Amino acid sequence: MQVLRKAFSQQLNETLTAFVGSVDADQALVEVDIKGSIAHAAMLAEVGILSKAQGANIEQGLKQILVLAEKKEFVLNPVFEDVHMNVEKKLEELIGEDALRLHTARSRNDQVALDLRLFVLTQIDAIMILLTHLQSCLAKSGLANIDVVMPGYTHLQRAQPVLFAHSMHAFVTMLERDKSRFIDARVRTAVSPLGAGAQAGTSLPIKPAFSASLLELPACFTNSMDAVSDRDFVAEFLFDSAMTAIHLSQLAETLIIWASSEFGFVKFADAVTTASSLMPQKKNPDPVELVRGKAGGMLGELINVMTTLKGLPLGYNRDLQETKPPAIKVGKDLCLALKVMAVVVDNMSVCPDQMLEAASDPGMMSTDLVEFLVEKGCPFRQAHEAVSSLVAYAQKKNLLLSQLSLADFQSFAPQFTETVFVLFDPLGSVKAKRSGGSTAPASVKSALEKVKTKT
Ligand code: ARG
Repeated sequence: MQVLRKAFSQQLNETLTAFVGSVDADQALVEVDIKGSIAHAAMLAEVGILSKAQGANIEQGLKQILVLAEKKEFVLNPVFEDVHMNVEKKLEELIGEDALRLHTARSRNDQVALDLRLFVLTQIDAIMILLTHLQSCLAKSGLANIDVVMPGYTHLQRAQPVLFAHSMHAFVTMLERDKSRFIDARVRTAVSPLGAGAQAGTSLPIKPAFSASLLELPACFTNSMDAVSDRDFVAEFLFDSAMTAIHLSQLAETLIIWASSEFGFVKFADAVTTASSLMPQKKNPDPVELVRGKAGGMLGELINVMTTLKGLPLGYNRDLQETKPPAIKVGKDLCLALKVMAVVVDNMSVCPDQMLEAASDPGMMSTDLVEFLVEKGCPFRQAHEAVSSLVAYAQKKNLLLSQLSLADFQSFAPQFTETVFVLFDPLGSVKAKRSGGSTAPASVKSALEKVKTKT
């Protein structure tokens, strides 16, 4: 930085000036930095460190910079290293000498911690809205296809029939947990570090709770050293984001498989697919693949920040500057990924016939056969063994389970009756479920209706 150098005999080397600066990342922090300064100035005026007139002058100057920033006319100058010094210099240019009092009882250390906390809070709030929107898109798609049965898979092998809507609700449920993680993280992030100074606090009569309440932060730091040196709230935000991104990547991968010709369960509208430069017939799900792909980068940023924090000595260290770009990048990428998946789900049509055909594979009703025997009093293990033998027998005879005769069934378990053949209806299988949270249509429908009305 080429200012604040009265104690130095040389200017900072030019290469090093560019190296230590953070203006590129800080451009995303201009708004929160100014909001923090407005609250700080108001607190200084409240306790009498600034006169009311000085406080008002500083506030109106900062608001002018905010307006310039909104018009993209406040571009950070690398010579001043970071957003904090850029705002201070601009304020001095706009209002003169009063600007020199703004940094009283404050350090860039508590200022940057505040900026990053406020920034993460804005990202959490945006992500929460987008998560809720995506949940409603998934719920809408499920409800619009509430009678559609499809195979449920384990190990990507056909397992048991489930409702398509149940699969949609599975993703809604994951996203609900993601939301609850962000709500938790919000509590620990919404703590003001303002007033910690460089690390020891100040001898001046400040009121940190006053500036915190102006910033709508319900809590204040309780240790000035911890306040400036920790970034666990960034790591937590990045974990919650990476987990959400991983859920999105699982949704993306699931839809990509379902949309393949081999499955043919869903179709992506032209509006969400891209062309091949060579093969004219192709309609590729590139946007969905990129959602899957970007999860890797988001997970990487979590590791990036955790590794930066590992082994830092107590107190502010410049390494902490490196935690800003990951938070900014992940906030942006996750918001985009959530928006993209909402558009994709909204522009996806379901192919009920293909799903029903796949779900009608009689082998998938094997568990229903076992439960039929259990209902008749057969011990579960014996029932499982009888149906396993029946499956092997059908395979040997090259027949589907549903093509065996009643006599065949009874030769493996005498409890089988004529009604066993009713079990080969996949919708019947789904409707027979009665446990909570199961694929039973009534419970899936009411769960999805609750999601829709929440939004
Ligand atoms: N640009 C710095 C950052 O982003 C601000 C804090 C600088 N503090 C210091 N003591 N050099 O972390």
